[in-house]
Amino acid sequence: MYALSMNKQQYEVQYKEAASLREQVKQDPWRLQYHLMPESGWLNDPNGLCQFHGTYHVYYQYSPFDVEGKVKLWGHMTSKDLITWKQEEPVLFPDSEDDVRGVYSGSAFVEDDTIHFYYTGNVKLFDDPNYDYNHHGRLQNTIHVSSNDGFHMSEKTCILKNEDYPSDMSCHVRDPKLYQKGDSTYMVLGARDQLDHGCVLLYQKDENQAWQYVNRFQVPDFGYMWECPDLFDLDGETVLLTCPQGIAQKDHHYQSVYTCGAFLVQGMDCTPPRLQPFQELDYGFDFYAPQTFLDEAGRRILIGWMGMPDIPYQNPTTAHGWQHALTLPRVLSLKDGWLYQTPIEELKQLRCDEANASADQLHQLDWMHRVYECKVTIRSLTSFTLQLRNTTSLSFQNHCLTLTIQEEGYGRTQRHIDIDSIHSLQIFSDTSSLEIFVNDGQYVMSTRVYESTPIQKLAFTDCQMQAEVVCYKSKGYSYL
Ligand code: FRU
Repeated sequence: MYALSMNKQQYEVQYKEAASLREQVKQDPWRLQYHLMPESGWLNDPNGLCQFHGTYHVYYQYSPFDVEGKVKLWGHMTSKDLITWKQEEPVLFPDSEDDVRGVYSGSAFVEDDTIHFYYTGNVKLFDDPNYDYNHHGRLQNTIHVSSNDGFHMSEKTCILKNEDYPSDMSCHVRDPKLYQKGDSTYMVLGARDQLDHGCVLLYQKDENQAWQYVNRFQVPDFGYMWECPDLFDLDGETVLLTCPQGIAQKDHHYQSVYTCGAFLVQGMDCTPPRLQPFQELDYGFDFYAPQTFLDEAGRRILIGWMGMPDIPYQNPTTAHGWQHALTLPRVLSLKDGWLYQTPIEELKQLRCDEANASADQLHQLDWMHRVYECKVTIRSLTSFTLQLRNTTSLSFQNHCLTLTIQEEGYGRTQRHIDIDSIHSLQIFSDTSSLEIFVNDGQYVMSTRVYESTPIQKLAFTDCQMQAEVVCYKSKGYSYL
C-alpha cells in the first residue's frame, strides 16, 4: 500500500545506486548554467524559501530517481550570495503515515531564531473503495516541523486534517504559507470546494497556538482549484498570489493549461475579502507555483517553477534522466497597482564580455552564444522580430508581443502579450531557457527551449525601430 513512500535510508541506498544516472544527467548539453535544477530526476515547486543567518535556503519538490515525479521529497540547495550554490541532502521524506504519498509543497516562517516549516502531507487511500481523487480517500494534512539550521528537522506534527477544513471543502486543500500582520499570524491554504470552485482559505493562530479558520478568498467562476497561495505586504498593499486551475483561455490571457497570478487584497476583514482584478504573473510556457520570501535586506524575492504540470508536450531532457528547473530570483515591487518583477541585482556579477550595438547593426556583432543576458533599450518602435534561436523568435506588431517557437519548443508554439508600447527588453538566455522581462518587469515570459546546433546568431530580422542593445556573456553559477 505504501509503495511510493521513501525514507532517508532508502533514499541513501538508491542515491548510491544512481551514480551512473547522475553521470548521464551531467552529460546532457541542455543542462542550465545559471538556474537551479535537480541533480537527477524531477523538480517542481520551490518550497520553504528563506534567508536564515545570512544563508539562503531553497527547498523544492523533488523526485530524485524518477523523471516523471511520482515520489515527492523536499530537495535542498543553499547559497550565501544567490550566485554560488551548494547542493545539499534532501531534508524531508515521505516517511510517516501523515505524508506517505508525498511531502507536498509548503513554506518557511522564521520566528524566535527558528525556521518553522509548514507543508502538506499527502495521503491517497487507494484501498478506500470510494477513492475518487477529489472527494473521497485523500488526506491533506498540514504538517509543522521546525529547524535551528535549515538542515535538521524536528519531529513532524500534524496541525490540521481534513476535518479541520470548512465542511464544504473537497479533499484538495494544500500548500500552507504564513503571513504576519502586527501581532496576528495567519496561514493561507489553496483549496477546491465540493462544487469545484477554487479558493484560498485563511486561518489565524489563536492564543493557544491553535489554528482557527477565519475567512476565504474567492472570485466567482474563476477555476476549480487554487494552488500554492502566498500572502504578503508590498509597497503599502496586501498581495495574494495563487495558481488557479481550470480557467479557459480568453484572447491572450490564460494561455497555459494552468494559470498563475496576483490579486491586490482590499477589505481583508470583509467576508470574503475584496480582491482587485487578477494580474497574470508570466506569459511564457513554463512558469508555475511561485513562492516569495523577504530576505534579510528587506527584498520580497519570488522564485517560480520553470515548468508546468499536466502539459501536452514532453521535455527532451527526460531522455537524459532529469527535467525542470527553477526561475531566476525576481524582486517584486508595485507601481500604480501593477506587480513588477525585476531580476535580482546579484545576476550582474555573472556578466562578462560586454558587446554593444544599435538594433539594426546587431547582426554584425556575430553574437553566437546561448548563455547570455541582453538588454534592449527602445527609443521608438513600430515593429520588430528578434531571432533568438534557430526556430525561436520574439516579435512585436500591432500592439502584440509574440514569442514563437517551432521545432525547438518540442510542442510549445506561441504566446502573446497585448501591450501598448515597449521601452525595454531584458532577456536572460540559458542553455535551454529564456526569461524575457518587458518594460522593466511589467510583463515576463519564461520558457524552456531546446535548440540543437548550429547556434543561431542573435539578430533582428525586422527592425522598424530605434534601439540600443547591450549583450553580456554569462559566467554561470558556481557550485561548492
Ligand atoms: C503545484 C502542486 C502543489 C502540490 C505540489 C505537489 O505544482 O500541485 O499544489 O503541493 O505540486 O508536488
